[in-house]
Amino acid sequence: MQPWIAPSVLSADFARLGAEVEAVLEAGADLIHFDVMDNHYVPNLTIGPLVCQALRKYGVAAPIDVHLMVRPVDRIVPDFAAAGATFITFHPEATEHVDRTIALIREHGCRPGLVFNPATPLDYLDYTLELIDMVLIMSVNPGFAGQQFIPTSLRKLEDARARIQASGREVRLEVDGGIKTDNIAATAAAGADTFVAGSAIFGSRDYAGTIREMRRQIAGVTGKGRPVATPIGVRRRRAR
Ligand code: DX5
Ligand code: ZN
Repeated sequence: MQPWIAPSVLSADFARLGAEVEAVLEAGADLIHFDVMDNHYVPNLTIGPLVCQALRKYGVAAPIDVHLMVRPVDRIVPDFAAAGATFITFHPEATEHVDRTIALIREHGCRPGLVFNPATPLDYLDYTLELIDMVLIMSVNPGFAGQQFIPTSLRKLEDARARIQASGREVRLEVDGGIKTDNIAATAAAGADTFVAGSAIFGSRDYAGTIREMRRQIAGVTGKGRPVATPIGVRRRRAR
C-alpha cells in the first residue's frame, strides 16, 4: 500500500481551517486527520460533526479520517457519517460493544477502525480484524498535540503489522502522536503505512517541504513514499 500522510487539524489555525486544510492538501497530504475530543474520555475538547460538514461544504473532497476520542461512541457515529467522514476510528475501551460499534460505522457507509492507546493490548483485534479497515496505534496518550513519541509504539506497530499480514486483508496501519521528520522512518520500518502528523506539519513554515521530507524518509526504508501519480481522491477544493 502506498504510504499516506495525514495532517492532524488539531494543530491548524482554527480561525482559517478551510484554507489550512486546502493548503496541506495542495502540499501533498493524502487524507485529513480529524481529532474529536469530548473532555470526558480525554481531558480536552475539540471539534464535532458541524466542523467536518463545514470542511465538506468548503469543498474538501479528500478522505477525512475521523479519530473519535469520545465516550459513548455510538451516539455520534451517524452524525459524522452524515457530515462526510470517510474513516471513523474509535477507542475500544470507550464503547460498551465493540463489534456493534464497528457494524454501526459500516452501516452508515464509513470505514471503521480501532485505536490502541499506549497501554492497551492488541487483543481487541482477535475477533475484529476481519471487520475493520484501519488499525491506529497511538504513540502518545490521546488528548493533546505536540507530545513526545513513546518508543514502545514501535514494537506494537510490528505486532499489529504481523497480525494484518496474517489476515491477508487490506487494513491500513496508522500511527498517531509525536511523528516528525526524524522518527517517521522508524515507524515505517516497524510497519506503519499511514502517518498522522499535527505539530510537525502545521507548525512548519513550509507544509510541502515537510511532507516531501516525510515521504523521502519513508521511501528510504520502504522504497515507497514518492507522491502517487493519481491521488486517492480529488484533493481539494472549494466548490464555490
Ligand atoms: C492526540 C491526537 C493526535 C495529535 C497529533 O490525541 O490524536 O492526532 O493531534 O499531534 P502531534 O503530531 O503534534 O503529536
Ligand atoms: Zn488523532
